[in-house]
Amino acid sequence: MTSYSDILVDTPVDGVQLIRLNRPEAHNALRTTLLGELSQALRDAEQDDQVHVVVITGSEKVFAAGADIKEMADLSPVGIWKDKRPQHWNSIKAFQKPFIAAVNGYCLGGGMELAMCADIIIAGEDAQFGQPEINLGIIPGAGGTQRLIRSVGKSLAMKMILSGEFIKAGDALTAGLVAEVTQPELTLKRATALAKTIASKSPIAVRVAKEAILAAYETPLSQGLELERKAFLFLASTDDRQEGIQAFMAKRPPQFKGQ
Ligand code: CAA
Repeated sequence: MTSYSDILVDTPVDGVQLIRLNRPEAHNALRTTLLGELSQALRDAEQDDQVHVVVITGSEKVFAAGADIKEMADLSPVGIWKDKRPQHWNSIKAFQKPFIAAVNGYCLGGGMELAMCADIIIAGEDAQFGQPEINLGIIPGAGGTQRLIRSVGKSLAMKMILSGEFIKAGDALTAGLVAEVTQPELTLKRATALAKTIASKSPIAVRVAKEAILAAYETPLSQGLELERKAFLFLASTDDRQEGIQAFMAKRPPQFKGQ
């Protein structure tokens, strides 16, 4: 397995890859090295048939405190233009397998944008979400203005991005930003258990479902429904569908093979 400096990669249970952001000295700030390693790990996970779901997490106190402000401070406008980070972000956004963020503590700026790239966020009660870029005289630069409004609606997105104020896990749950709130010590356990459940399903159906759900961001309802119908027809041709239905009839658990 590739060795990294800013992330730790592990396989806690079959089918589930865990990626831990690991820059405790900088509150897991997303420097270019970290983003590059993360995008590489996700590209590897995409190619690895043994990996069905990825869980990403930080430490008990911080998921990630955003872009690395110290690294950003030295970048000229041309440096920002030539920067490799947008490419790394594009790899992260392009990940096609299910991707769960297990968030404890601060989840800020680029850290929150990373969590929003995940398909599901599980948060500890102590998690705090924020887009504090406005305090630096900038705006979110990795999708925050676009993803947050789609997740929580205009008023809360405006409040968070224009004021820089943080919201707590309970409010993030009410707003629909996170799927579940747990006790902080159980966040990763719950995210891993959920990942294990998803990993036990047909990988083809899971991937097609993710694609169809994400398409809702980009398409009018009529096109989205058409896409869903075609995806549904495509799944009718898979062995996994036969297996799922036969297992139900035989009152046994299905054994999906991703065929
Ligand atoms: N970049 C670089 N270093 C950071 C960092 C960041 N985003 N956040 C924290 N650190 C560093 C601190 O400088 C400090 O290092 P030193 O000990 O060497 O001084 C260390 O991590 C611990 O931080 P604090 O002492 O500040 O810890 P705290 O517990 O008092 O506060 C915090 C925690 C509220 C998260 C605070 O660190 C903070 O406000 N961080 C910045 C958050 C932020 O503004 N994020 C947005 C970044 S811009 C962005 O993300 C753009 C984008 O859209 C991609």
